[in-house]
Amino acid sequence: MVTLDPQLAKDVQKRRTFAIIAHPDAGKTTLTEKLLLFGGAIQMAGAVKGRKAARHATSDWMQVEQQRGISVTSSVMQFEYEGHVINLLDTPGHEDFSEDTYRVLTAVDAAVMVIDAAKGVEAQTIKLLEVCRLRNTPIITFINKMDREVRDPIDLLSEIEEILKLECVPITWPIGMGKTFRGVFSLKENHLVRFTPGEDRLSGKQELIEGLDNPRLDELFPMEMGYVRESIELVQGVTNPFSLEKFLAGEQSPVFFGSGVNNFGVKDVLEALVQWAPSPRSRDGGVRVVEPTEKPFTGFVFKIQANMDPKHRDRIAFFRVCSGRYTPGMKVRHLREDREMKIPNALTFMANDRISMTDAVAGDIIGIYNHGQLHIGDTLTEGEKLGFTGIPYFAPELFRAARPKDPFKAKQLHKGLKELGEEGAIQVFENDMGHLFLGAVGFLQFEIVAQRLATEYKVDAIYENTDVSTARWLSFPDEDTQKRFIDEQAARLAKDADGNLVYLATSIYNLQTTQKHWPDVQFHTTREKNQTF
Ligand code: G4P
Repeated sequence: MVTLDPQLAKDVQKRRTFAIIAHPDAGKTTLTEKLLLFGGAIQMAGAVKGRKAARHATSDWMQVEQQRGISVTSSVMQFEYEGHVINLLDTPGHEDFSEDTYRVLTAVDAAVMVIDAAKGVEAQTIKLLEVCRLRNTPIITFINKMDREVRDPIDLLSEIEEILKLECVPITWPIGMGKTFRGVFSLKENHLVRFTPGEDRLSGKQELIEGLDNPRLDELFPMEMGYVRESIELVQGVTNPFSLEKFLAGEQSPVFFGSGVNNFGVKDVLEALVQWAPSPRSRDGGVRVVEPTEKPFTGFVFKIQANMDPKHRDRIAFFRVCSGRYTPGMKVRHLREDREMKIPNALTFMANDRISMTDAVAGDIIGIYNHGQLHIGDTLTEGEKLGFTGIPYFAPELFRAARPKDPFKAKQLHKGLKELGEEGAIQVFENDMGHLFLGAVGFLQFEIVAQRLATEYKVDAIYENTDVSTARWLSFPDEDTQKRFIDEQAARLAKDADGNLVYLATSIYNLQTTQKHWPDVQFHTTREKNQTF
């Protein structure tokens, strides 16, 4: 099945698709902007002042985000760098939207992990890394904010190794920190690109000093060089050399130090992405593995975004191409609905601009306008029956029952919640009586859903506490057990947006008791899209 189209292979080889993962405030947005700047995707001064305003203009779509100053929705940006086409998938940093982030991570081939050098490994970093590990995603580490009073670099490396169980190999090493941060010495190139605060690092006019023993370094940084050489010797004595193979297997991470806000160390990260991060790899298509260079077009939807632009009431499915080539107007097979579908006008995203996509290959993300036909996890092909796996859903731990203030608006509420559920904004469960339960991972999800229902669907709803405390997807050994279980437990059962049966437990104790009574029934805490129980 491998293609005979050398141009396709060449184009795939040029792609790099990655996401930035970080605990909120570590500097993900700043790094995103700087990467875009290097890629020439946006023209913007690197100044901190006014950055927030600029940020909202570039990558935040929703009003809620602007009010809260958090990035709720994920955006996708494409730019070129050194002959490569880079797809950067932004992820919401706030942990309440972690489900969305997990799904985005299924669509990337590598990740850049940003660590705040003053804080080290934080809670959200740990969670995100666990998700990357599910797919052995290669990780590049960027230790940010070296221009502040931060922790010792060696401490930071050992913390990453210990907590994240990820072998670290420093590729650059900081000289000084805080006010005396002088730059990063490249251990890979064995040189220093001199850093002067306020200097324009895009101009390429910095001084280059070759060799760690170069006396010019002592002349410039008499106070720092002793400690720098000592630390480098120490760290090199205890770390393995960089291994591309281990990095690609997700076992070893190249580490870069820098200061995103000052544009420092950012270029090294971009270069590592181009040189080391993998081009699109093969994907599990359910019935077989799909190679990115195969000619037939395939891919899957990992995110749905409705009403991104209040002026256009549209729905966009973010689709990761896994093989073949997209051409405008092409016809594809929508496998879940088992019918043909045309993609007349796919989009790519350039910060806030949507641009018509004329060509896309494996690794690229295209936005497909639709009216609800596409759901998260849907596979599109040129006819072959595939189902890309790996899109995760997690059993929510927070629940609300929803009913409309105005009983005549029950239909709108239903429609709104169904659509928001398909979009993945929240999980929606419906029982036999037609009662709707909302399940979330974080409280902010309820707030966003309430606001969106009010503004987009014109429904004011009442959200009440319920007796549900956790949910489990069910699978049965045989039809008889399934029937008996459903008869006996009807009051505690509901269906999710895709029609899967779910047990809504009142407490962990209730769950355990039921599990004890039904040892043959399996209760699942996660579900993968295209996984049927
Ligand atoms: P996030 O997306 O990961 O949440 O982080 P974001 O980039 O928004 O950065 C969080 C804060 O850290 C911002 O400050 C940002 O300016 C600052 N920051 C990012 N990189 C660096 C760095 O290399 N050095 C220093 N010193 N600060 C950095 P803020 O006060 O929250 O916002 P703003 O008013 O500066 O925009």
